[in-house]
Amino acid sequence: MFYILVSWFLLGAFAKPTPMLYLPVLNSSRSNSFAGSNNYYLHGLSLEDQTTYIKGLQNDGAKLVRLWITGIKSNCTKSSSTTELPNYETTIGEYNTELLNAIDDALVQLNAAGIKAIISPHDANLLPPNGTSTGYNGIDIYGTTYQSSFNFYTDAVSQANYDARLASILNYVSPNFNKKWADLSEVIMAFDIQNEPMIASPDLLTGNDPSDWLCNRATMMKSIIQNSGVGIATGGIGGSQYAGHEYNLLQKALDCPAIDIMSVHGYMSTKLQWTPYIPELSDQAAAAGKLCMLEEWGVTTGSGVDSVEKQAALFNQYGIPWLYWMVILGKSVDQSCAASDSACCHSGLSTDSLYDYEISLTSSRADFNMLFHNSSSVTAYQDWSKYT
Ligand SMILES: *[C@@H]1O[C@H](CO)[C@@H](O)[C@H](O)[C@H]1NC(C)=O
Ligand SMILES: *[C@@H]1O[C@H](CO)[C@@H](O)[C@H](O)[C@H]1NC(C)=O
Ligand SMILES: *[C@@H]1O[C@H](CO)[C@@H](O)[C@H](O)[C@H]1NC(C)=O
Ligand SMILES: *[C@@H]1O[C@H](CO)[C@@H](O)[C@H](O)[C@H]1NC(C)=O
Repeated sequence: MFYILVSWFLLGAFAKPTPMLYLPVLNSSRSNSFAGSNNYYLHGLSLEDQTTYIKGLQNDGAKLVRLWITGIKSNCTKSSSTTELPNYETTIGEYNTELLNAIDDALVQLNAAGIKAIISPHDANLLPPNGTSTGYNGIDIYGTTYQSSFNFYTDAVSQANYDARLASILNYVSPNFNKKWADLSEVIMAFDIQNEPMIASPDLLTGNDPSDWLCNRATMMKSIIQNSGVGIATGGIGGSQYAGHEYNLLQKALDCPAIDIMSVHGYMSTKLQWTPYIPELSDQAAAAGKLCMLEEWGVTTGSGVDSVEKQAALFNQYGIPWLYWMVILGKSVDQSCAASDSACCHSGLSTDSLYDYEISLTSSRADFNMLFHNSSSVTAYQDWSKYT
C-alpha cells in the first residue's frame, strides 16, 4: 500500500500521467473478500483429523477459521472423535496453558494452509441471566463466581479478572512460532473481546453499555497488541442480530477507538431478512472507521428456510466476508453413517430441522467449494488488506 502510493506520487510528479491510468492500480490494491467456518473444537481433534479438516477447507478455498478458547467436553464432538480437555480457567487467575498449546498446534496447520484465525477468548453464553443458575451454553468459573451475567459485567473485580485472562492469552508465547499471540498477525487476524458479549444482559445492551465494558476491555487489549497488525473484533455484541434485537453495532463500540472489527452474528430464515443489514451494517461500521464481517451465520433445513447457497450468494454479491456455523469434519445428519465411520458419527448433532446447522465438508447440502472460492473472487466491500 505504502509502495503503491509513493510510486503514484513520484510518477505523478515527474511523468505527469493522467490519474485515470493509475486509479485501477490503486483499486487493485483493495483486498478480495474471504470466507470460512467457525470451529470451536478443532483443537480437540487428533492432529491427523485436523489435517484432513484444514486441507479440506483449503481445497474449498476457505481463508479464515474462528477458534475458541474452550475446553473439550466429550470424547465425541459434532460427529468426530475428540480428546477431552479442561477449560482454560477453572480457578480464577489460574490458566491451563495446555489448552493454548493445543490451539497453537492447530494454528500451525492453518498457517501452512494459508488460512487465518479469529480467536474468541471466552463465551458470554456461560454467564447466567438474572434469576437462573446457568447460561445459555452452560456455566464456567466466571458464572459460578459472579453468579450472573449482570454481575460479571458490572463488578470491578470481575472486570479485572477478565482483563487478566485476556492479557494472559495475548501475552502467551507460541511455542511453535516463538512469539506472543498478540504479535502473530501472520496467523491471527483478530481476537474477539468475547463471544456474544452481554447476550444475557439485555438491560446493558439497551443501556448502550453504561460502564464502557466493551471499550475498556478493547483498550486494555490494544495496549498489549499495539500496532502488531492483529485486530480487535467485538465478537457479536448481544448475540444474533434480528428485527427488534439489533445490538451488533452498539454505538459505544462504534465510538471506541480500540475496536477494529464489528462482528455480525445472525441466523436468518430467508435471504430477504438480511436485506436491512447487508450491506447497511458495513456502511454504518465504515462511517465509524471500522470493518464489518459476518462472523457467524448458519441455516437449517427447516421449511421456508433459504439454502446456504442462496444466503451466501448475497454476502458474496456485496463482498462481505463471512464465517459459516459450522462446517464440520464428521458426517452431518443429511449423510448416513457407515460401519467404516468413527463411532462418533452423528454424535452431538441435532436431527431436528430447526437446529441442524452443521454441514460436513463432504456433504452435498452446500457446495462450499464454490461458495468459498466465490467469496475470494470478488472485491471486498471494505478494504481488508491490512488483515488478509
Ligand atoms: C476505482 O475507485 C474509484 C474511487 O472509488 C472509482 O471512482 C473508480 O470507478 C474505480 N475504478 C475501477 C476500475 O474500479
Ligand atoms: C473418554 O475416553 C477416555 C479415554 O479412552 C475414557 O477414560 C473416558 O471414560 C471417556 N469419557 C467418556 C465420557 O466417554
Ligand atoms: C439484573 O439484576 C441487576 C441487579 O439486581 C439489576 O440491576 C438488573 O437491572 C437486572 N437485569 C435484568 C435484565 O433483569
Ligand atoms: C458463484 O460464482 C459463479 C460464477 O461467477 C456464479 O455463477 C454463481 O451464481 C455464484 N454463486 C454464489 C452462490 O455465489
